[in-house]
Amino acid sequence: MTDRYAVIGNPIAHSKSPAIHAAFAHQTEQDMDYGRILGDPDDFAGDVRAFVAAGGRGLNVTVPFKERAWELLDDLSDRARAARAVNTLMVSDGGILHGDNTDGIGLIRDLAENQGFSFPGRSVLLVGAGGAARGVLVPLLETGVAALTIANRTADKAHALADAMRAMGPVSGCGLNQLWDQRFDLIINATSSGLHGASPSLPSHCLAERGWVYDMYYADTPTPFCRWGQERGARRVLDGLGMLVEQAAESFLLWRGLRPDTVPVIKALREGQL
Ligand code: ATR
Repeated sequence: MTDRYAVIGNPIAHSKSPAIHAAFAHQTEQDMDYGRILGDPDDFAGDVRAFVAAGGRGLNVTVPFKERAWELLDDLSDRARAARAVNTLMVSDGGILHGDNTDGIGLIRDLAENQGFSFPGRSVLLVGAGGAARGVLVPLLETGVAALTIANRTADKAHALADAMRAMGPVSGCGLNQLWDQRFDLIINATSSGLHGASPSLPSHCLAERGWVYDMYYADTPTPFCRWGQERGARRVLDGLGMLVEQAAESFLLWRGLRPDTVPVIKALREGQL
């Protein structure tokens, strides 16, 4: 029987996950179907129950349900527990639900494997202190960075997040307007400012010479943060399309035990063929 998977979010029509997983399934010859579910903001748990009752094997969870999925599930991976968010849900044979979070490892794999960024010893700035930032913090600290600074418009949230992660590695928090004279080898945008057509306001000097800029979001045209990086002469400017495909590949690996080749899928998406 064909195994059923889906992505649940609201809105969901724009999601590229069905196309990405269909490409993975085709490439690895897996008999699986991957659909979209428009989640009910007032009854996420009911939507999940209905999917499982109908024989569903796994879900990807996206905005605005990642935190709710975290609250709902008892069985969580360490990285999902730390992120306080779940983006991948697996249904075991007995109908037990397991939650994981592949966003952070997707970001790391895109930067390290696809783009060749070397993390150990680097100084990294993570801009934003909301759910997207929390989702990638632990995997970032595990890469062996020399220092990870969380900078947020609302400084208190950056301090709180850094305090919560202190045991995991060299992390500190500050306000966006407190980046006095630091220079960073990599600046990652994890704010939602691009959704409003803006880039977070960062001082120009904070990008090291030959530093990299990564926007966790993506669009068909350069995002405002990518434009910020281009204007400051960043060595590399990347958007989050690769992260999107890599986090999907990690979900696929959890569900099917196979690692798909992400390179042709990223290329097809970039060229508008998926
Ligand atoms: P998400 O789950 O996408 O991270 P969120 O939890 O609502 O969404 O967090 C949004 C993040 O984007 C926050 O860090 C927010 O900063 P504040 O905590 O100060 O609100 C940040 N953000 C949104 N718009 C921004 C802007 N125009 N400039 C800078 N930061 C912005």
